[in-house]
Amino acid sequence: MRISASLCLAVFGLGAVMTAAAQTPAPTHVAKAHAMAPKPEVALTPPMGWNSWNYFAERVTDKDIRDSADQIVSTGMKDAGYIYVNIDDTWQGKRDENGVLHANDKFPDMKALADYVHSKGLKIGIYSGPGTKTCAGYEGSLGHEEQDAKTYAEWGMDYLKYDLCSFIPDVMHKQAPDDEAAQMRLMHQAYDKMAKALQATGRPIVLSLCQYGWDSPWEWAPAMGGNSWRTTGDIEANWNSMYTILSQQAGLEKYAGPGHWNDPDMLEVGNGKLSLAENRTHFTMWAMLNAPLLAGNDLPHMKPEIKDILTKKEVIELNQDKLGKQASRVYSEGEVDVWLKHLSGGAGAIAIVNAGSDRVSTHPFHLNLQKLGLHGPMHARDLWTGKDVELRNDMPIEIKSHDVLLLRVGSAR
Ligand code: GLA
Repeated sequence: MRISASLCLAVFGLGAVMTAAAQTPAPTHVAKAHAMAPKPEVALTPPMGWNSWNYFAERVTDKDIRDSADQIVSTGMKDAGYIYVNIDDTWQGKRDENGVLHANDKFPDMKALADYVHSKGLKIGIYSGPGTKTCAGYEGSLGHEEQDAKTYAEWGMDYLKYDLCSFIPDVMHKQAPDDEAAQMRLMHQAYDKMAKALQATGRPIVLSLCQYGWDSPWEWAPAMGGNSWRTTGDIEANWNSMYTILSQQAGLEKYAGPGHWNDPDMLEVGNGKLSLAENRTHFTMWAMLNAPLLAGNDLPHMKPEIKDILTKKEVIELNQDKLGKQASRVYSEGEVDVWLKHLSGGAGAIAIVNAGSDRVSTHPFHLNLQKLGLHGPMHARDLWTGKDVELRNDMPIEIKSHDVLLLRVGSAR
């Protein structure tokens, strides 16, 4: 059974909480209660890798993980920076009489699998949740947090995605019916518990919070050692889903930085019905947002044009820039959005997205450099074509429907 995050919201009846709570400031008790040493050793730039869910979902097996690790190396993705190979939901089997969780038949030997992935010079990630069950109905970590963290460390895991799901009915609704503030406190405590359990193992493990942006995690997750937090419900492999999530990231830029990142969900590049332009826009914008770049496509059958997008060096460099500044949406005109990202060395990147469904109604678009704090004429480089562009104020720019123009400029201000 697959319960997507959006379904979770409906099933567990907290949809209203999410939208309302996402706007409210963090309760002050959180920063105090959860202040702990930062984990500077992981995720200093947004984590890059691959995750099994967006393509394989419940079908994922040990072989898929090994094949994907092989492909990451042979396609050049590893050289481009993709390091984490993350197993998502449905790997869990049963607990033994001591409470130790074992993998199910699809994963005969987790330690051997982790060793295999490590032998390729890659890292490996795993998935759980604070409730009795995960979103797909497999064993969760409730009451076994320390034990599970220890198991992950013993297996050699380097990354944990921790997904709220059944914690909502199991604990939040049961222990604090009708008290939304108390429910949120329980949720914070659950994440804090796992953060501490991971730290106690002594192994550097990236902690990725997956609770769909409830209660503004960007306000409280960094203080408890969260390296990324989902900002929305689940992404789907279509333009509307991707663009809706993209638009919801505007304003969150001040919360991201080295070691702690907003996560607009994993990449759908190469999945579903996304056109080439849409794949390019999706990848560009996740790079601009300093999102974790976790590919989620079928690597053994990846088309060359999809590989070209995922491994586009100069676009990845924006994402991995050591300054760690997430892009801001500076202005929108009609259906065209203009985003600016500051880069180290005083450089910058401008992404212009045409969200319109046809080019006639929105174009030509005139770029207003002043709104970006820039003065033309100035030299820029189109990062997708590699061509030089001379930027002038108010210059007409034509961008096809759902496509993007991505420019790097020497100085952002
Ligand atoms: C939730 C998450 C997804 C995925 C599934 C697995 O829906 O948001 O990213 O991990 O659970 O069941």
